[in-house]
Amino acid sequence: MNNKIIIAGIGPGSIDYISPAALNAIKSSNILVGGRRALSQFANDHQVTFPITGDIKSAVDFIRDKLLTNNVCVMVSGDPGYYSMLNVIRKNFPAQTIKVIPSISAMQLAFAKLALSWHNATLLSFHGRRPTDEELKFTDNKIIGMLTDGEFNSQTIPKILMSNGWCGDTKLTICHKLSYEDEKIIQTTLAEAAHIEVFKHCILIVGDF
Ligand SMILES: C[S@@+](CC[C@H](N)C(=O)[O-])C[C@H]1O[C@@H](n2cnc3c(N)ncnc32)[C@H](O)[C@@H]1O
Repeated sequence: MNNKIIIAGIGPGSIDYISPAALNAIKSSNILVGGRRALSQFANDHQVTFPITGDIKSAVDFIRDKLLTNNVCVMVSGDPGYYSMLNVIRKNFPAQTIKVIPSISAMQLAFAKLALSWHNATLLSFHGRRPTDEELKFTDNKIIGMLTDGEFNSQTIPKILMSNGWCGDTKLTICHKLSYEDEKIIQTTLAEAAHIEVFKHCILIVGDF
């Protein structure tokens, strides 16, 4: 059985940030798996689709079944190598069955928007998890880029950072809906963030640069 699971990144939202290779794989696949928003953006009438919801087991069962006769393309947001369904797929299928096609990560785009290189930044995820205090603690010149979620957001994360030695007047950049028409990039400070609108799914960048 030579069929493959193709995990294609779709970028942070706008078609401008999906790689041509990922777009080709998505367009040419008979079987397409992805979140509802990705399916409504990319699926056509000829494709068999399966929406990814909280029920990951059903998605894995669907992929396993379809893989017997077809390649299966799984769309994930941003880049597949950065906090996506890739790990679940790796746990359930042999590596030689999987082909990963990169696209631009929301984290990459956030740093690009600030004209800031990210090779020295600490990159952490608060998406469904909490980094350790050791990872979060303040050190001189440290810059942290963070994925967020509903619970760990632009109001709760600054408090966690301040309890880990960061000063309230440290610069905080909130990058919300990157690449969409209603994208917002807001410069504030850790202390002020509690007093402005809350942003849930966004990228936060903390540090003075
Ligand atoms: C499960 S992670 C997926 C990350 C993805 N693999 C990537 O490389 O961008 C989802 C989180 O990514 C961030 N994110 C995804 N798209 C975004 C966007 N367009 N603007 C800002 N943050 C975004 C948010 O923190 C969101 O909660």
